[in-house]
Amino acid sequence: MFPLTRCSRWLLSRQPQVISAAGSVRGPRKLSGSAVAMAPIERVTVIGSGLMGSGIAQVAAQTGHGVQLVDVSQDVLSVASKRIESSLARVAKKKFAEDPQAGVDFVKTTLGRIQFTVDAVEAAKSCDLVIEAIVENVGVKQKLFSELDKAAPSSTIFTSNTSSLSITEIASSTDRRDRFGGLHFFNPVPVMKLLEVIRIDETSDATFDALMKFGKAMKKTTVSCKDTPGFIVNRLLVPYLAEAVRLLERGEASAQDIDTAMKLGAGHPMGPFELLDYVGLDTTKFILEGWSERFPDNPLFKPTEHVNQLVEAGKIGMKSGEGFYSYKKS
Ligand code: CAA
Ligand code: NAD
Repeated sequence: MFPLTRCSRWLLSRQPQVISAAGSVRGPRKLSGSAVAMAPIERVTVIGSGLMGSGIAQVAAQTGHGVQLVDVSQDVLSVASKRIESSLARVAKKKFAEDPQAGVDFVKTTLGRIQFTVDAVEAAKSCDLVIEAIVENVGVKQKLFSELDKAAPSSTIFTSNTSSLSITEIASSTDRRDRFGGLHFFNPVPVMKLLEVIRIDETSDATFDALMKFGKAMKKTTVSCKDTPGFIVNRLLVPYLAEAVRLLERGEASAQDIDTAMKLGAGHPMGPFELLDYVGLDTTKFILEGWSERFPDNPLFKPTEHVNQLVEAGKIGMKSGEGFYSYKKS
């Protein structure tokens, strides 16, 4: 028998087979019901290289995965590459405080695991896992997944990093609902320790198992949640943020005082307005609009006029240089 090279392992890993430590190949392993064991996730395609996608790609590369990072233009990808490099430098400064050269090597090696591309369909053809982190719009996400579904190998798992949309609805644009789930990371991804793993009714045990293992490989603490609006964190966090804006709109306290109060009185690392700017007011607007359309009777999900006006004026938070606060260097 020929020895298994990394390449032949990679090719074999496209099939739902299990490679034993001795290198022999066993057929599909039954997990439960008709579930089939998945090969471990080694190659990841991240679509969307904004705040979240660049952080997810960085952490995937830091934890040894091969990554393809996709966005709509080379210009956007070049901004993402710079963002990843500077974040890696922050990690390296801490991790290799005693050995700066090792830090430089770490940044170079990690960046070297990321390929930057504008071709999502091509990138989906050679990966074990797709993580979508594009704009928070169900129609746009469905269109993307329906194109990828035709191109990706049948063994590839699809996931969305959506903050608020229904994974079931996004997955309905594909024929691989058993290999579909949610992977909800938190901003900033290199720092935040949590990963919410979402399963829809059709997610197979093998897919769920592979996603939980991937979360651990990414060195995140995983929690699982059903496909419910906002999952765990955002179901609690987004109404709190909206309520802070309503407090401001009623003129009951200033943004600065509300932020100070929540940091010093509740121990939050950021006040609600700092966090809104950090997350992006566009994303928050999309979340509230989507929820209020679907659940018009829930007062917690009502959009706020102040956020809408800031977004309309292009003031979407830190990423545009201004939101509730200004981040422009004078
Ligand atoms: N990359 C790498 N490291 C980073 C980083 C980044 N982008 N941002 C911060 N860090 C590291 C710093 O190097 C620093 O490390 P050390 O303390 O070991 O030196 C540490 O994180 C703290 O950073 P700073 O000193 O610059 O600033 P800080 O103490 O104010 O922390 C923060 C920054 C981690 C962002 C903190 O303010 C925080 O936790 N804020 C709340 C963030 C939050 O709630 N995120 C969830 C948003 S909701 C969401 O994501 C879900 C959704 O769907 C909308
Ligand atoms: P962002 O605006 O920073 O980045 C989105 C990126 O997707 C942009 O670079 C855009 O060019 C790209 N894009 C749009 N359509 C595309 C397409 N068809 N193909 C390839 N690239 C495309 O947004 P973000 O804050 O990173 O959020 C992305 C997703 O993650 C959203 O679903 C959001 O709800 C979710 N999320 C956001 C946060 C947060 O704190 N911002 C946290 C968790 C989850």
